[in-house]
Amino acid sequence: MISDKMKVALNEQLNAELYSSYIYLSMSAYFDDINLKGMAAWMKMQSTEEYAHAMKFFDFIIRVGERVNLKQIDNPPASWDSPQAAFESALKHEKSITKRINDLTDLAISEKDHATNTFLHWFVDEQVEEESTVADIVENFKLIADSKGGLFMLDKELGKRTIMPQQ
Ligand code: FEO
Repeated sequence: MISDKMKVALNEQLNAELYSSYIYLSMSAYFDDINLKGMAAWMKMQSTEEYAHAMKFFDFIIRVGERVNLKQIDNPPASWDSPQAAFESALKHEKSITKRINDLTDLAISEKDHATNTFLHWFVDEQVEEESTVADIVENFKLIADSKGGLFMLDKELGKRTIMPQQ
């Protein structure tokens, strides 16, 4: 039903989503270490969402009758130069994931793989959301600049995040 090339690409994306979960978990630990508990909680939820993304690929690969092939997950960085730098790194990471999803979609289209193409639509939409959310947070950091009070408020705000149900 799906080509060997597509099977390899889907398994690679499963690994990339697990790495995303891992990098945000590492960011959560970093924020906890510098006592920004709201940002730590936000990143932990982001990590949980990424794990759910990985499971969507896991379930899809099995549903189309293919074999899941789990690979080693790379070490994420353990610290960043500043809270803003961590979120800027998250935005850069999300942009790289968007490119991966677009490349996967291009592959599905070129192979006339309608099932995979339709499955990927959710991720195309999700990446627009993810990039927009993180870009807004980076803009908030730019607004507050060096204000300790601003950082405190932003931490409180991000700590209010609740988990979004995955569809
Ligand atoms: Fe699963 Fe944030 O992309």
